[in-house]
Amino acid sequence: MIIKNMYLKDFRNIKTEEINFNENINIIYGNNAQGKTNILEAIYAASVGRSHRTKYEREMIEFSKKDCHIRADVNDSLKIRIDLHLKRDGRKGIAINGVAAKTTGELIGIFDCVMFSPEDLYLIKSGPSERRRFIDIELCRINRVYFSKLKMYSKVLRQRNNLLKKISKDKSLKETVFVWDRQLIEYGEFIIKARKEFIEEIEKYSEIYHSKITGGKEKLKLKYKPSVSAENLAYLIEKNIDRDIIYGSTLFGPHKDDLLFFINGADVKNYGSQGQQRSAALSLKLAEIELIKKHKQKEPVLLLDDVFSELDDTRQKFLIDNINDIQMIAACTGVEELIKKIHSKTSIKYVENGCISDYSFL
Ligand SMILES: Nc1ncnc2c1ncn2[C@@H]1O[C@H](COP(=O)(O)OP(=O)(O)OP(=O)(O)O)[C@@H](O)[C@H]1O
Ligand SMILES: [Mg+2]
Repeated sequence: MIIKNMYLKDFRNIKTEEINFNENINIIYGNNAQGKTNILEAIYAASVGRSHRTKYEREMIEFSKKDCHIRADVNDSLKIRIDLHLKRDGRKGIAINGVAAKTTGELIGIFDCVMFSPEDLYLIKSGPSERRRFIDIELCRINRVYFSKLKMYSKVLRQRNNLLKKISKDKSLKETVFVWDRQLIEYGEFIIKARKEFIEEIEKYSEIYHSKITGGKEKLKLKYKPSVSAENLAYLIEKNIDRDIIYGSTLFGPHKDDLLFFINGADVKNYGSQGQQRSAALSLKLAEIELIKKHKQKEPVLLLDDVFSELDDTRQKFLIDNINDIQMIAACTGVEELIKKIHSKTSIKYVENGCISDYSFL
C-alpha cells in the first residue's frame, strides 16, 4: 500500500499544498517548527481519522480558519481517495471515494500506516485509555468483526450508563437494565477474547524485535490486564448492579482494560529507563507492521518523525534494514547523515514555514 499524493488546506501552518510521494523513501526535512510533523500528522489522520498527538481535532485547523481539509490518494490494488474535513465546531466529514462515511471507524483499515514518533512514549507512560485505543485501532484494522462488535459495545455501554443514572431517580426502571446487560455481556466477551488473542500475537513479534534491538539483553513481555475475564463478565455485571447505579456508570468491562509492558520482569511504565521505554515502543511498532503484513497481506506505509535522531547508530541501522520495500515518509532536521544510511530511491522535500518544495534527488 502506498500514498501517492496528499492535498492539504488550512491544516495547522500549511495553507494550500499538494504533495507527491514516491513509492520508496520520502524525506521531509527543514528546521524546527516549519511543518514537518504537521505533514505526517495529516497522513496519519487520513489513515485513522484522528491525530497522533492531540485528541482535540480543532487544534489541527489553522488558527484563523473555521475548517481544514485533507485529501489523500492511496493505492492499494485499487485507487482510493480519502477526504477528511474538520470543522471548528467539532463536526467532521469523512468520505471514501466520494462516499460519506457515517463513523470515523469506517475509515480504519482502508489505508494502513504505522507512525514512529516521540509521542510513542505516551503509549507506555500515559493512562490506560491510550493503550486501549492502540489495541482497538490495530484490531479494527485487521478484524472487521471486532470493529462492529466494538461499535455495538460502545453504544450499549452508553445506553446502559444513561439508564443507570435514571434509575437512581426512578427505581422502577431497574427491571429494564437486563435488556442492556445481555448485549453488553455478549459484545464484551467477544472483545475481551479478541484482545487477549491479539496481545498474545503481537507479543511474540515484539519480543523477537526487542531482543534483536537490545542484542539479546532484554526480554520484553506484554500482559493483557482485563478489568474482568470473559468468563466472569456476566457474573460481575449482575453482582455489581447496585454499585453501578450508585456510580451511574458500569464499573466492569473491556472499557476498563489495560496493557502492561515488562522488561526482564520489571514494569516498564514505572521502572524502565527512557531508552527502554523508547525501545519497547519501537518493538511494538515493528510488531504492528508484521501483524498488518500477516493479516492483510500488504505493507503499511511507515511514518517516521525525527525517530532517527533519537536512536543510536545500531538501532537506526536495525530500523532501516527492517523496513526495506515499504513506503517510508520520514521527517528530520538534518538530512546528510540519514542519506548515507539509505540506499533505495529517495525523494527529498524541504519544508519552510508550512511551504513544501520538491527536490528531485539521487
Ligand atoms: N493550528 C495551527 N495553526 C497554525 N499554525 C500551527 C497550528 N498548529 C501548529 N502550528 C504551527 O506549526 C508549527 C509546528 O509545526 P511542526 O510541529 O510540524 O514542526 P516541525 O517542523 O515538525 O518542527 P520540529 O523539528 O521542532 O519537530 C509551529 O510553528 C506552530 O506554531
Ligand atoms: Mg516535528
